[in-house]
Amino acid sequence: MTATIAAGHTILDPGQVLDTPVMVVDEGILHQNIAEMQGFANSVGVNLRPHIKTHKSPQIARLQLQAGAVGITCAKLGEAEVMAREAGVQDILIAYPIVGQPKIERLLSLMDQVHMTVAVDTLDAATALSNAVVRAGRTLDLYLEVNTGQDRAGQRAGEEALALGKAIAALPGVRIVGVMTHEGHAGASEPDLIADKAKAAGLALVETADLLRRAGVPVTTVSVGSTPSSPFTPTIPGVTEMRPGTYVFNDNTGFRHGRMGPDRCAARIAATVVSRPSPDRAIIDAGSKALAMDPSPSHPGHGFIIGHPDATIARISEEHGVVLLPTEDEPGFSVGDRVEVIPNHICPTINLTDELFIVRDGKVIDRWPVSARGKVR
Ligand SMILES: Cc1ncc(COP(=O)(O)O)c(C=O)c1O
Repeated sequence: MTATIAAGHTILDPGQVLDTPVMVVDEGILHQNIAEMQGFANSVGVNLRPHIKTHKSPQIARLQLQAGAVGITCAKLGEAEVMAREAGVQDILIAYPIVGQPKIERLLSLMDQVHMTVAVDTLDAATALSNAVVRAGRTLDLYLEVNTGQDRAGQRAGEEALALGKAIAALPGVRIVGVMTHEGHAGASEPDLIADKAKAAGLALVETADLLRRAGVPVTTVSVGSTPSSPFTPTIPGVTEMRPGTYVFNDNTGFRHGRMGPDRCAARIAATVVSRPSPDRAIIDAGSKALAMDPSPSHPGHGFIIGHPDATIARISEEHGVVLLPTEDEPGFSVGDRVEVIPNHICPTINLTDELFIVRDGKVIDRWPVSARGKVR
């Protein structure tokens, strides 16, 4: 697989001095990724509601909204609180079940500031929300989460989702305005199966929305979302919204789909070679405190080192990345040399860093806080 992946270019100028490890983001690639996904959404006539779990950055959320996003998607109320406060976002979907009184109280408080929609997939959670909003004299918009094959949350598309949707629609104070699915199973499958699985997921969701409408539940939004499936699922007639997240940076996992290589990966860990214990082994200062542990289906090891497609970050401990070199005279691995690593999975890697160092034409021009990192509640 690696032979088909171009080596890529570093985004940092070699002369740019930096303390490492640090997450650097190329402004040009970031803008290109945002513009292209928005252009695609416009071209197929669906709304873009990006998932901010990837960047957790108010600045980047603002860029997405300025490009035309209708609102954002969050997994956590804590992320939504940051985005409402620091990015001025007015329309937020929590694509995750809200369960428990402390969370319901935080949701009610957010509803005073911005338009909130919440995903539900059980009658228990919907009933608790209904009771709370009725007590507060409010109305809450819901998306019914539907399982189209990922087998994570959600009742199965079709009759199961219909039965739950009808029961929730009968509750006071809440209204099902949409159905949503995360067709992550499509992206996790072999590259030549993604399109079919993504389209099947989209069709199943559209059919479920139709069943609900025929049963008198006036569903208007049909929301799909994941980056690998993004060229396919939103093209299904009846889909009205897409929620990709990873596209904003892209990552090593994305190489698997063959649609892009390192030069579309905006975010990299800049790391320094701190030891060269043997000719075939170098140590970089990016360990598990800098790189998330997720494996990659497209490249061996813990990340892709720009310019060195055959070097492998074979092991990581907290502070050490152990790089096995393809040849003993591989250039660029002397003590003090700097490398750029594309993480296997960018979303949890961003969650490890306080700041993004923004790079333009090879130079760091700004530092943006990752304000919504660590918001696990
Ligand atoms: C519910 C939901 N929607 C959208 C996304 C975005 O998917 P991706 O990161 O592939 O763009 C995710 C990612 O985990 C998700 O869980």
